[in-house]
Amino acid sequence: MPSTIKRDFLTLRDLSPAELASLLVRARELKEGLRSAKAGARSAAAPLAGQSLAMIFRKSSTRTRVSFEVGMAQLGGHAVFLSDSTSQLGRGESVADTARVLSGYVDGVMIRTFEQAEVEGLAEHARVPVINGLTDLVHPCQLLADLQTMTEEFGDDLSDCPVAWIGDGNNMANSWLNAAALAGFELRLACPKGYDPDPAILAWAESRTRITVTRDPSEAARDARVVTTDVWASMGQEDEAAARAAAFEGYCVDETMMESARDEAIFLHCLPAHRGEEVTAGVIDGRWSRVFEEAENRLHAQKALLLFLLGDG
Ligand code: CP
Ligand code: NVA
Repeated sequence: MPSTIKRDFLTLRDLSPAELASLLVRARELKEGLRSAKAGARSAAAPLAGQSLAMIFRKSSTRTRVSFEVGMAQLGGHAVFLSDSTSQLGRGESVADTARVLSGYVDGVMIRTFEQAEVEGLAEHARVPVINGLTDLVHPCQLLADLQTMTEEFGDDLSDCPVAWIGDGNNMANSWLNAAALAGFELRLACPKGYDPDPAILAWAESRTRITVTRDPSEAARDARVVTTDVWASMGQEDEAAARAAAFEGYCVDETMMESARDEAIFLHCLPAHRGEEVTAGVIDGRWSRVFEEAENRLHAQKALLLFLLGDG
């Protein structure tokens, strides 16, 4: 039996508000440290030397894979990529057996998959920390980067940062609900009927912070400090793309919507994006956009998470 209870990161709610706040401070310190190192002051620090992270991808990825792999390397550790087509998972080996086997080799497991229950099953059977790299329900690693981007822009106290979510009540919307409750900001979600966020997560967040669900994107965006959206058809919903495009008519984040937000408002998107669908090119490539800072912050925020789970706490 391990001497200490392992910590998993299956949703943002696996962190307390204080842990989340200190993780975001550390993420910014790591970013600053990396910039200094690249400027010549190279550090020999390797806090995760000898440690390995298995990364199971049952869905595609660019940012999550590269940021975890590079993050482990920068911390002195190593990452191992597994997918359905290159492992026995794709031939039906159970998640429980996979968890037990990987626990004998590696110090942590990151998984991107469909069902949240599969991630929970992996965590139950693994003797090492498990990180959720996206499920149909939530995408907590993305919110670490999004919150880091908000703190860089607006400071540590996010209580006066109303966020407008425009679009699908999907894994990102659910994660924004968790984030709003933990960091204490207002969240307004504009979702078409039939595309609301997860009711249990919504109820949990509503009991902790100010949440509005509306069918009117302009109502959500007005006076917001962050306007954010995501694709209308997530991974696994490709067959619904046409029906969703019809349902989401009027939900494109455009310049008019951004002009109605506060003067200092920023636009965030987890990426990949579809210009001309959920966001105009003028917004995502314009003055409001922080999407590439946000994408870069995946690296720094996840390094802070890896140190929290696998390192010195
Ligand atoms: N935002 C995000 O998770 O990107 P990837 O799908 O490329 O990992
Ligand atoms: N909602 C999107 C997020 C991609 C990072 C999806 O699940 O495909």
